[in-house]
Formats: sequence, C-alpha cells, structure tokens
Amino acid sequence: MIDYEAYEASFETRAERRQRARPGGKSRPKPASAAAELSDRLDASSYEFQPTYKSASNDHFEHQWIVDALSGFYYDKLIDDVLRAVKGGKEASVYCCAAHASTGVEFIAAKIYRPRMFRSLKNDAVYREGRGIAALSGKTIAARDRRAARAVHQGTRFGQELRIGSWIGHEFETLRRLYDAGCDIPKPYAQANNTIVMEYLGDDANPAPTLNQVALEPDEVRPLFDQILRNVELMLAQHRVHADLSAYNVLYWEGAIKLIDFPQAVDPRENPHARALLARDVERVCQYFARYSVKAAPVELAKDMWRRYMRGAEMDA
Ligand SMILES: Nc1ncnc2c1ncn2[C@@H]1O[C@H](COP(=O)(O)OP(=O)(O)O)[C@@H](O)[C@H]1O
Ligand SMILES: [Mg+2]
Repeated sequence: MIDYEAYEASFETRAERRQRARPGGKSRPKPASAAAELSDRLDASSYEFQPTYKSASNDHFEHQWIVDALSGFYYDKLIDDVLRAVKGGKEASVYCCAAHASTGVEFIAAKIYRPRMFRSLKNDAVYREGRGIAALSGKTIAARDRRAARAVHQGTRFGQELRIGSWIGHEFETLRRLYDAGCDIPKPYAQANNTIVMEYLGDDANPAPTLNQVALEPDEVRPLFDQILRNVELMLAQHRVHADLSAYNVLYWEGAIKLIDFPQAVDPRENPHARALLARDVERVCQYFARYSVKAAPVELAKDMWRRYMRGAEMDA
C-alpha cells in the first residue's frame, strides 16, 4: 500500500510543511532541564546534514533543495557530504558527493530531479505507452488504484509529481536491471523521492566528460564503437531500449565508457515505438563515430539486432 500522505508531503516546501504543522500540531516535548536541552541541541546539530557545497551564487533555495533531497542518504550512511555540482539541467542536477566510508568508494553521484521545475514537461506519451505507473518504490501501482490514476490523468500537481516520481522509479529499476545484467552503466545505489544515487565517474577535480567532449585516440575508436553497440544489444536482451542514446549520454573515463540517463527507456514488449527508438539510438551512435571514419550501416545494424531480439523473445515464450 502506498502512503500517499507521506509521498505528497515529501514534495512540500518548508513553508507549506510549517503551515500544515501549525494548527493543532504537536510541539516537541520540552527537555527536563537546561542541561538536557543543551545536550539535545548539540546532538541534533552534530547529526544534522550540513553539506559544505555552496553554489556560486550561494543560492539558498538550491541549498535547501539539496538538503531535502539528500538528508535521507546521509542518515542511511551512503553519503557524507556534497562536494560540487557536476551539471545543472532543466530536469535534474547532478552532484558529486563524498561517499560514506562503508561504501568502499570515495565519491557518489546524486541525480536530483526538479519536480517544481517540470512545468515544461516534454511530451512523454511516446515513452510512457504501455508502461504502468511505477511508484517511487519501483513497484507498479495497481491499475485499480483510482486515486493515483485520476490524479495523473487530471494533471493535478500531485498527479504531475506522481508522474515524475514514476519516471524516476522507472529509471532506477532500469539501472538496477541493466547493471545486474553486466551492462556498462554506473552502479546504482539507491533511490528515494526525486533522487537517484549511483557510482560517480571522475575524480575530485573533474567529473568524467561525455563522449562528445573528448578526442578519441585512433586505436580506441573501433573498440568503443563495438562496446556501445554490444551494450545496446545487451539492453535489448533485458527488454530495454535506451531511447535517448547519443554521445551526450555516454561518459568517458580513463579509456572506458558508461551509458547514462535512462528515464525514458522503453520495454519493447510493451511499447509500440521501441523499434523506431532503437533505430534512432543506433543511428546516433553511428553518426558520432562517423567523424572518426567508422563506416557503419545503422539501418541494417538496428534491423539485425531487432531480428535477433525477436527470435530470442519467441524462444522465451
Ligand atoms: N554517474 C555520474 N558520474 C559523473 N557524472 C555524471 C553521472 N551521471 C550524470 N553525470 C553528469 O550529469 C549530466 C546529466 O546527467 P544525465 O543523467 O544525462 O541527465 P540529463 O541529461 O537528463 O540532465 C551528464 O551529462 C554528466 O555530465
Ligand atoms: Mg543526459
């Protein structure tokens, strides 16, 4: 059962939360003595998540947004701190975090979506077709859950945010599935509300560039091309088409590549546009490698992959 109240509340601003808490809300129990009160306060402040990262403009809203999105991962001992912004986009911003010692890695990437910034929702119908509403837990909300369906349908704010939550839950599920299958993607760690935390590619000074930002050595061109197509096929075997693949969504770090950015990935068993989206993915990969004189026939490549996939799907059935 999904706790809608809690979910809805997770998108409230602080002001809204305060407002809701005020009338008849319970106040905190008073500590027994001044000493107890002091120690209470010290405890709370040493435990409170206070990331050191400050945006260039010292944007208070961004700071609060980061604290809201990442505190849970801090208390869960996944991250210790937020170090720098990697990239701020219209839909999501990615931050480099210091990882908690228990993770065994130095850095972790946090991708935080902006529910309130999602006013310019691009038409997502093509990608959503055939997809259930994935709840934040990643589980699909039962079709009989009319409240959710109605909210999404009517485009209420809650509905819109549920829809965004659905994208994020879907992205995390996809990452997990593909990572487990051995695809070259960042290791996913956790997802909650509007945030995904995953393996960070890069070092403390520099996040990994995307493939379109690097100049490849001649001898790495063909192996990387083959590796990306191998990944496309591996994804297909997992019933996934990336659907927004290009050199902008491939990270390059120390000679190796990883595919990123999966919210729009589709399942070819359910989405009628999957074949066309696969063809576009392959086409864009070929386009990028053409500048290194890789000769490829994208239409045939995609057709071939699709045929093999369909044969596999028949054998599965
Ligand atoms: N795991 C990661 N490690 C390092 N940088 C990352 C990672 N994931 C994303 N980035 C950076 O953040 C940018 C945006 O991430 P992406 O998932 O492509 O979201 P979108 O394109 O929707 O904003 C990427 O182009 C890349 O520069
Ligand atoms: Mg991207």
